[in-house]
Amino acid sequence: MGASLVWRRKLLRFVVLSCLVTSFTIFLWPRFDFHRVTTQTVSNITITSEVDCEPDFNALRRLNVEKLSQYVRREVVAVESPSDSLPIAQSLDAPLFQKKPKDDFHHPSPEYLHDDCLIPQPVSVQVLAPPKRADASHIDFGVATTLERLNDSLDAFSHWAGYTNARIFALIEPDDRTPQVLLKADALGINLSVSESSEEYQRRYFSLVPHLAKNMRSTTKWSCVMDDDTFFPSMSALIKGLKEYDHTKQTYVGGLSESIPQVGVFGLMGFGGAGVFLSPSLIQELSRPEVFEDCQRMDFTGDRRISLCIYQYTAARLTIDHRLRQLDMMGDVSGFFEAERPPPLSVHHWKSWFHADMAKASAVTEVCGDTCFLRQWHFGDGWVLTNGFSVVKYSNEKKPGDRTMELTWDSHNGAVFESYLHELGPLRPRDDGKISYLHEDALVDGNQVHQWYIHRDAEKGDRVLELIWRSG
Ligand SMILES: *[C@@H]1O[C@H](CO)[C@@H](O)[C@H](O)[C@H]1NC(C)=O
Ligand SMILES: *[C@@H]1O[C@H](CO)[C@@H](O)[C@H](O)[C@H]1NC(C)=O
Ligand SMILES: *[C@@H]1O[C@H](CO)[C@@H](O)[C@H](O)[C@H]1NC(C)=O
Repeated sequence: MGASLVWRRKLLRFVVLSCLVTSFTIFLWPRFDFHRVTTQTVSNITITSEVDCEPDFNALRRLNVEKLSQYVRREVVAVESPSDSLPIAQSLDAPLFQKKPKDDFHHPSPEYLHDDCLIPQPVSVQVLAPPKRADASHIDFGVATTLERLNDSLDAFSHWAGYTNARIFALIEPDDRTPQVLLKADALGINLSVSESSEEYQRRYFSLVPHLAKNMRSTTKWSCVMDDDTFFPSMSALIKGLKEYDHTKQTYVGGLSESIPQVGVFGLMGFGGAGVFLSPSLIQELSRPEVFEDCQRMDFTGDRRISLCIYQYTAARLTIDHRLRQLDMMGDVSGFFEAERPPPLSVHHWKSWFHADMAKASAVTEVCGDTCFLRQWHFGDGWVLTNGFSVVKYSNEKKPGDRTMELTWDSHNGAVFESYLHELGPLRPRDDGKISYLHEDALVDGNQVHQWYIHRDAEKGDRVLELIWRSG
């Protein structure tokens, strides 16, 4: 009975669609004649004749697609590898998109696409066994922000801080909606403590140091001062990374700006957006009243005040961890994320200097764990998937194993090619012929995760690829 209902609804949809197509073809045909590809408009979305299946209109509306020229859905089955290491990029024989059997009228392949744009064959990819749930009870995180920004950050925080026993201490401007935000954090498994302070922002930022010191437990090994848009792709990877440093000494671990002009302006310091990690004895030293009060009076802002205070009052010096990323890069940062290198331990500026929603990007880890996030697969038809970031085809084919980074981002503060080599080399010039579908949205649906990658083209129409992940 259920099935016949579905069919009746399908039939009804087909009839309605046919009427719409016919009427719009009759009324709008002459206007679109010069385009060569014909179009129809369904609930305000223009669909070109290249789309020969029924796309998901709800998704298109949510993604603000106004004109569509391709919609392809494909299932991806994440198969756990028996091995405990896999290369960052793997090659597959299977194509990602399937060729349309256009010219072969005598042997038409009815298997090309289902009505709902699904390629019939799923593709299988090898992934590592997901890491066990991380226990980060020895790391405290501190952030100075406003309540609204804190609230907006919780979805991204939940990826790395949710159910890991990590504690987050926020210092915010007084706000009476704090209880709501605490409830939301609790629902996401984030151990958040909010303290209100009417201090001016720079003073509040530096006040995080004694605030973290005061809240330290005997088990605390690291206190991290970070920004509200600092994102850790994998808590397990961060914990493993921090094991390389001695928390029993006065230790200061951080990341530099990727851009030499920025280092020139701000100094050799742990840039705050990358996350600044302080060992217990160091943070206690900085919190001694006479040291703290002197440093709080320094003219320099935020992360700079922390570095200068350390250099002036202690013997500790910065230990640079090149996996902690400030990402002082603007515009198109695809080169950074698409480089064939181990994923960074932290990223920053992802909702300001560039846009790559990390909460959505990491949704796929629900199916295949942190270890499959930002991993790559090279498909037989030349397309490269960087999981959670993009699907691209280079104009000059890039071989697996080539670890150069494409310099795609805008120059800032007079930075040139060489300005980025100390952090990001080896670099290669931008590929202007690269075709990109960028990850724009993701939804967790039961034990599946849907990802939408979009190639935007206002004139010819957007091309949409929906990947549906499940574990196999
Ligand atoms: C189509 O767009 C118009 C104007 O932008 C709007 O009023 C109308 O509600 C839209 N219709 C649908 C079905 O989205
Ligand atoms: C926090 O964000 C949620 C959306 O996740 C929103 O509904 C709520 O109004 C926000 N609360 C505050 C205090 O900004
Ligand atoms: C958060 O951490 C505190 C200890 O600082 C602990 O008492 C509390 O139970 C934790 N809350 C959750 C939800 O884990």
